[in-house]
Amino acid sequence: APIAAPDLSHCAEATVQPTGGVSTTMGVDCCPPVSTTITDFIPPSVRKIRYRPAAHLVDSRYLKKFEEALRLMRELDKDDPRSFMQQANVHCAYCNDAYPQTLFPSQPIQVHNSWLFFPFHRLYLYFFERILGKLINDPDFAIPYWNWDSPSGIMPEIYVGSNSPLYDSKRDLSHLPPSLVNLNGGKDNDLSRERQIKCNLNLMYREMVRTKIPSLFFGKAYRAGSTADPGAGSVEGGSHIAVHIWVGDKEEPYHEDMGNFYSAGRDPIFYAHHANVDRMWNIWKTLPGKKRRDIDDSDWLDSAFLFYDENKNLVRVKVRDCLDSRALGYDYQSVDIPWLGSKA
Ligand code: C2O
Repeated sequence: APIAAPDLSHCAEATVQPTGGVSTTMGVDCCPPVSTTITDFIPPSVRKIRYRPAAHLVDSRYLKKFEEALRLMRELDKDDPRSFMQQANVHCAYCNDAYPQTLFPSQPIQVHNSWLFFPFHRLYLYFFERILGKLINDPDFAIPYWNWDSPSGIMPEIYVGSNSPLYDSKRDLSHLPPSLVNLNGGKDNDLSRERQIKCNLNLMYREMVRTKIPSLFFGKAYRAGSTADPGAGSVEGGSHIAVHIWVGDKEEPYHEDMGNFYSAGRDPIFYAHHANVDRMWNIWKTLPGKKRRDIDDSDWLDSAFLFYDENKNLVRVKVRDCLDSRALGYDYQSVDIPWLGSKA
């Protein structure tokens, strides 16, 4: 059976596993406000596709809008499910075992390390983007993506200025631009810039081009009643985790913010990082190979999540609702994909 949407009234304290500096687990309260009215998601009627821009290519007009939207989100009352902190907590609750599975209360819901990874984050970003658009009265607003799969994709400058609402102080200061991310593990190494570029492109090639079958790309099956973390797909376990590790501050006890699930959503760059992860899902399906399709298993397709939408309504969404980003009204600005031919 599919993993059912959580019952928000059963949300409990989240458990934060130590990431490195500390050895103790920590409890955090990141439960959302409860609402008893739940509606089923209805796909939006799409007038025109919103293109999510590459963050390093945006112009000042776009940047102003984006900053304004994020500033307004940060200013919302902390109990408003659309506020920045509540949005960050969505990640914490779904990723740090705050929800028991509805029919199997001894098993927590965990959206990482399984086939739920891509759809959960796609939907999470979808509602985040709708909320930002609503706050600035622009239903066509699209969040930017961090093009880290390309050598030009160092940390986007727009996130770096400390007076910006896009800034977060809990980051590894030695990894600001022009430092190049190490997609192979996210740790510092002594590769030359040229070697690092090559190594990153090879890694992307392996995760995307070489990975030809759904279970290796999306991650392993995770069904109602089963234990969490059956196994991550290629991108999730590789470049995705590496970027989290690389951005998080190693001086912070739990490598906050990006270096730990419970706090990752507190860094605005998280959403740009995940937009690029989401972009990989779209790209993967266009690469040659007969098996490059979405998983055809009703336990995946009918897995469900709850999110608050831009009008504070609690919505139940299924994986099958999010397979086509264009049906949700968005796609990605296309840029050069340098790893396509990067066989090792
Ligand atoms: Cu839910 Cu990048 O993690």
